[in-house]
Amino acid sequence: MPDKHTSSPIAFLDGSYMPLGDARVGIMTHALHYGTGAFEGIRGNWNEDEGKTYIFKLREHYERMLRGAKLLFIDIPYSIDELCEITVEVIQRSGFTEDVYIRPMAYKGEEKVANLNLRALGDSFFCLAVPFGQYIDSDGAISCCIASYRRIDDTMVPPRFKLAGLYLNSILAKTDALASGFDEAIMLNQDGHVCEGTGENIFVVHGDKIVTPTLESNVLPGITRQTVIDLAINELGFEVQERPIDRSELIDADEVFLTGTAAHIQAVGSIDHRLVGSGSVGHLTKNLQDLYFPIVRGQNPKYLHYCTPASYLGVKRT
Ligand SMILES: Cc1ncc(COP(=O)(O)O)c(C=O)c1O
Repeated sequence: MPDKHTSSPIAFLDGSYMPLGDARVGIMTHALHYGTGAFEGIRGNWNEDEGKTYIFKLREHYERMLRGAKLLFIDIPYSIDELCEITVEVIQRSGFTEDVYIRPMAYKGEEKVANLNLRALGDSFFCLAVPFGQYIDSDGAISCCIASYRRIDDTMVPPRFKLAGLYLNSILAKTDALASGFDEAIMLNQDGHVCEGTGENIFVVHGDKIVTPTLESNVLPGITRQTVIDLAINELGFEVQERPIDRSELIDADEVFLTGTAAHIQAVGSIDHRLVGSGSVGHLTKNLQDLYFPIVRGQNPKYLHYCTPASYLGVKRT
């Protein structure tokens, strides 16, 4: 265990480490005006026994970020290995002793506002981490509504990448859901099939079958989604179908749960005021949660390769 110390978040911005509060961008920054950035949301999970932060599926997150960056013609001077090293160093320098959310972003950092040509703009990269507990304030099953906003379509802005500007779609749906007293919104895609939550993928359980929308349904290819598919098949022996899901299938479901880096595995207890199953956390959802949480905290030796450990360096160099 490291000595007791006070954490202070350190960010990496265009080649330098600095206190988070010193990492600033100008008001002409292109990404601020147009959302021209590809970002990630990564969790670092604190393992109290070992005094280490375990970063979950770090490489996979950067692979996805770089796919989005490619679409936006963003070219940053770091390999995936270097991006992983930078992230570990941000955690090590910050000295967190709790769970953190890590936010890297590759973006059009040039201070040019009246320019809509991605190829004429310079690129930037930052990585920051901040303490982060529960995303949705509930230990049980949450209430959801079906959003009136549809999920943006691949023919508009590809939702399979985590692009900054795209999140307006999620934010509008989430804001309306909260204002109406729900915990989360479930979005339909353009053809009316169930798509995903505003920051989570969705799974629907019917008996011994688990169903989730295909990657062609305009969902984000979630890293937690894939983890849950693998665990359900390999550890619990379930069949997982990837196929379009009708809205009405939600009414018949035995269980519905959401998956995401921020939300982890979140049971859904009701949708548009109709109970899902008994309205509480279902058996399968609970089994998956019990498997998943030790894995993301580096406490399951079989899945230690999913996690990258980071320990406090004890010295803050900026
Ligand atoms: C729209 C959307 N869907 C799904 C997810 C879940 O993806 P992941 O499990 O990779 O965090 C996210 C996570 O940020 C998201 O923003």
